[in-house]
Amino acid sequence: MIRPQSTVHVDLPGREYDILIGPDILDGVAEVIAPLGGRKHLAIVTDETVSALHLSRLQTGLEAAGFTSAALALPAGEATKGWPQLQRTVEWLLDQKVERGDVVIAFGGGVIGDLVGFAAAILRRGVRFVQIPTTVLAQVDSSVGGKTGINAPHGKNLIGAFHQPSLVLADTALLGTLAPRDFLAGYGEVVKYGLLGDAAFFDWLEENGPALAAGDMDARVYAVTRSCQMKADIVQRDETEQGDRALLNLGHTFCHAFEAATGYSDRLLHGEGVAIGCAMAFELSSRLGLCSQEAPSRVRAHLRAMGMKTDLRDIDGDLPDAAALLGLMGQDKKVIAGQLRFILARDIGDAFITSDVPRDAVLSVLDDALSQR
Ligand code: GLY
Repeated sequence: MIRPQSTVHVDLPGREYDILIGPDILDGVAEVIAPLGGRKHLAIVTDETVSALHLSRLQTGLEAAGFTSAALALPAGEATKGWPQLQRTVEWLLDQKVERGDVVIAFGGGVIGDLVGFAAAILRRGVRFVQIPTTVLAQVDSSVGGKTGINAPHGKNLIGAFHQPSLVLADTALLGTLAPRDFLAGYGEVVKYGLLGDAAFFDWLEENGPALAAGDMDARVYAVTRSCQMKADIVQRDETEQGDRALLNLGHTFCHAFEAATGYSDRLLHGEGVAIGCAMAFELSSRLGLCSQEAPSRVRAHLRAMGMKTDLRDIDGDLPDAAALLGLMGQDKKVIAGQLRFILARDIGDAFITSDVPRDAVLSVLDDALSQR
């Protein structure tokens, strides 16, 4: 029997689904996939790292319940999220004779979830897919909400579709095999939820974050559940990001500039950029008189206590100057009619969306951060 410790329901009419959360629920996967229907032959797309660690367990669980499965393991890493591997995936799914009524499984982190979700969106004009996210970032963010896609040479995530999964299965025990750096990078997205809309959750993270990082399973389940619940609430209000969904981009306008400046390389992982970006969004909010000076200090103190990247000085190697970083923010796909959009905050847990941010204020925050390097 599958026993998720918690379930979050995403209530989108006609496209609703559950997010099941808990340790070792992977072993009960067949039980929750069977009611979705489709053939008893499942196509699984994963990456080489996850395949080596966890694929046999997933396939064994499926076989025990009478399913057969075939798996495609793509190279791990962001470079996979482009046209060549998308084409390979779609053609492999066609080779597997996946039909309209079938279900495809995305088994991996954000790269796999986004790419396979997009492949499912365009295959035969749309087949269903199940997300089995294996990283913190994927469990709390990318596997939920239906944003799917690939990167273009022009920027990240510029080609894609909204396509909701039919089920998300977040096995929190799988997080035990993550490298500490990857775990903490994903934790940056967890902190983001507290900062954008739930001060009590941020208080809880300040108290429980270290235990959670050290492996406390109940803390991990709670953090994933609270994050998914917050994301589900926002996605239910604004599935296609016409308004409130942009709150989920707290820290991301800064982050995207830093990621571009570091060549989307190992110098800065996405979640690390989000954490630094959140600290800078609070710094900017404080300088604009929107929130107290204590708020950015508290954000930075928590990130530091967790051993995370907090400031631009934590990024190795050269960075462009403030004007160039501001220019890179202009490449962000969230720019509307040339206006930069920022998520700023009135307090911890109280973020809002605005296009009304003086350029000079952003430049001075960037300048000061660069001068401390
Ligand atoms: N990761 C932001 C969103 O799903 O909207």
